[in-house]
Amino acid sequence: METKIGDNIAVAVDLLRNNQLVAIPTETVYGLAGNGISHNAIFAIFEAKNRPFFDPLILHFDRISAIEPFVQDFHPLLKKLAVHFWPGPLTVLLPRSEKVPDLITSGLDRVAVRIPNHPITLALLHQLDFPLAAPSANPFGYISPTTAAHVFAQLNGKIPYILDGGSTSIGLESTIIGEENGQIIIYRLGGTAIEKIEEIVGKVIINTNKSSNPTAPGMLKSHYAPRKPLRLFHTIAELETIIPKNEKSAVMTFAAEYKSPNSKSYILSINRDDKEAAKNLFAVLREMDNSDATHLFAQLLPENGLGLAINDRLQRAAV
Ligand code: TXA
Ligand code: MG
Repeated sequence: METKIGDNIAVAVDLLRNNQLVAIPTETVYGLAGNGISHNAIFAIFEAKNRPFFDPLILHFDRISAIEPFVQDFHPLLKKLAVHFWPGPLTVLLPRSEKVPDLITSGLDRVAVRIPNHPITLALLHQLDFPLAAPSANPFGYISPTTAAHVFAQLNGKIPYILDGGSTSIGLESTIIGEENGQIIIYRLGGTAIEKIEEIVGKVIINTNKSSNPTAPGMLKSHYAPRKPLRLFHTIAELETIIPKNEKSAVMTFAAEYKSPNSKSYILSINRDDKEAAKNLFAVLREMDNSDATHLFAQLLPENGLGLAINDRLQRAAV
């Protein structure tokens, strides 16, 4: 199969209506989209990504009213957050209705839903009368794609079309939330910072499961990983104790350049801006993975704002 890249929404509509897969831009990362109520399309997503069936998928919509038939209930606190942050990098777990295929939720009682904030994908959803199931458009376990070229590099030949919407503006997957006993729970740290959520609903509980076989809200311990071994550090002094002196290394820092004869320096944000760092994170990790370095190193960020989600991704990517 030849994989084409373009910005033709009509082509994407046509393919999706015929149960084919299309990579779509969102504000977080690129998604690998298919008809979310078609068994064949959903099956094809798992197959193209090499994804285990125990890892459930997010359904994407263009408006809240379109979500209602797929859920039994929308807790007022979750609705308040959804109304505030949508369209945007937030996914909400809600009790599913019988309209949701079992394959979408891996048999769980709740379905993950979100309204992404990208004009092309919103226009696309507007023309469809079904939601789009879309995991990140990377092979299972690898770094998520933030450009159409990243998608092409790995899914070339496996899908017919990549809808090109430029570089993603947030660069980290959505924050996943839900409600248990009246409490808001964060299941995955992501593009919506916890502080922003707490401004709306007060204190939340963080429950980012790090098991290697998630049967509950899923987050795998090892994920987002480059092919080469990645190790983490806080300070340059710490880095110097672990970096091999005679081998080629790639070193990612938050803001300050790291100079040494056998290593190449990659900076996430000269301005120490967590949002800029998030936007650059996955592209820089890929670049390091594709460089001639044999050892990769990354600096952990201060634990606030998007720094928390960045560190979560780095920890899952590291050996
Ligand atoms: O930003 C995003 O969320 C991107 C874009 C494309 O929308 N999508 C994304 O999907 O990151 P994916 O499949 O790569 O990650 C979705 C995560 C998985 O860890 C999955 O286990 C969890 O959401 N998830 C999905 N449905 C769930 C459910 N019903 N209960 C618990 N966890 C769920
Ligand atoms: Mg993913």
